[in-house]
Amino acid sequence: MSVYVVEGQRKLEGEISVHGAKNSVLPILAATVLCDGECVIENCPDISDVDTSIKILTHFGIECTVEKNTVTVKNKGITSCDIPDSLMREMRSSVVFSGAVLGKTGRAVMSSPGGCELGPRPIDIHIKSFKALGADVAEKHGYLKCECANKLKGCRIVLPVRSVGATENTVLAAVLASGITTVHNAAREPEIVDLCEFLNSCGAKIYGHGGDTVVIEGVAKLHGAHHRIIPDRIVASTYMACAAATGGSLLLKNVNCNNLEAVISIYREAGCDIRTNNNGIIIKSRELNAVKKVQSGFYPAFPTDAGPMAVAALSVANGTSVFVENIFESRFKYVSELMRFGVKADTVGKAVIITGNKSLYGTDCVATDLRGGAALIVAALAAEGTTHISNINYIKRGYDGIDKALLSVGAKICEK
Ligand code: EPU
Repeated sequence: MSVYVVEGQRKLEGEISVHGAKNSVLPILAATVLCDGECVIENCPDISDVDTSIKILTHFGIECTVEKNTVTVKNKGITSCDIPDSLMREMRSSVVFSGAVLGKTGRAVMSSPGGCELGPRPIDIHIKSFKALGADVAEKHGYLKCECANKLKGCRIVLPVRSVGATENTVLAAVLASGITTVHNAAREPEIVDLCEFLNSCGAKIYGHGGDTVVIEGVAKLHGAHHRIIPDRIVASTYMACAAATGGSLLLKNVNCNNLEAVISIYREAGCDIRTNNNGIIIKSRELNAVKKVQSGFYPAFPTDAGPMAVAALSVANGTSVFVENIFESRFKYVSELMRFGVKADTVGKAVIITGNKSLYGTDCVATDLRGGAALIVAALAAEGTTHISNINYIKRGYDGIDKALLSVGAKICEK
């Protein structure tokens, strides 16, 4: 099992190009199930969750080729509608393949999805949408069988929670349904917009994405298309945290600053000098100040996925900061790993209270999940001495070459 070895307290300086968004590419690869013909998806990060998605497509009988960061998907017909248990367990996003294959063939079989353990992550809202669209859903022996004798039928759906995955799955199932589906209280994340724009470029008729209500006018067929995945706003947030925690100065290229407003505002409040333009962010940091309260929320609020890295950065700020997690029940497993660096933090219910301490020291620690693992990298860069981070497979689920990118701007980090 490999580990990241980090020598801390190096000043980061230079530029990093941010790769394509994990949480866009996964539902978009799922959406190719609905298309007849060839889809060319550019700016796909080289991460293990993309590999898992390709394995699912291949299992469905769909041909995929990968060349650098472009995945070409040739859908000449689906030969299987089940998602193997081993692939369901590998990542949470496997669940969005069910909406797509159900929408295309009228049938989907899957077990419970895996992914990072951030507390209970049910899929009840996904299932409710499938049922509302006319599918029968039966659970037996740990498998969910979704079937529809006739075509799925458009309807009015009110999501009880602005779930990202449930919004995506509802859209995917409804695109080829007959009639009109309206999804109320839809998630508004940029990755939802990217998915809907991809589907529209394939001939779908989706309106209102990015807002509270998404309207899907069912179409008979979708064709293939070329699409470029949007930049990963959480990866950009991670590099911002790295610069903030180390007193560094980074130019982040290939970012969409509009998607990062809540994150930029927090690092500005912490005293970072941040300039934005059409395609980049320059972040310069010296002394970091505490931020009274950061709260995660649905987009456009501060993203839950950027929370662990912000907590790590604020652990070296002057004064006491509070981070409140409002999306997931148990996202603080990484905090006890951060404390191994000398981070002073207390978790109280949904909040973590961080008392700044500039004298962090290197340690041996374990990534508990994807973003928790990224937070350990931030702390290791700020700490004096050597850190060994194990369980880095979690980190590789969402970051394409984080070690190489950080090395290129002056960090001392390698995989062993
Ligand atoms: N929820 C339910 N029932 C459902 C679905 C969701 O109760 O059927 C609840 C969840 O338990 C959670 C809340 O709704 O409390 C929001 O969850 P959501 O469904 O929005 O999350 P997700 O679709 O499983 C995606 C991202 C996560 C990100 C969340 C929130 C992907 C592949 N994953 O997850 O990303 O944290 O939205 O923005 O898009 C990550 O990248 O590290 C990551 C965890």
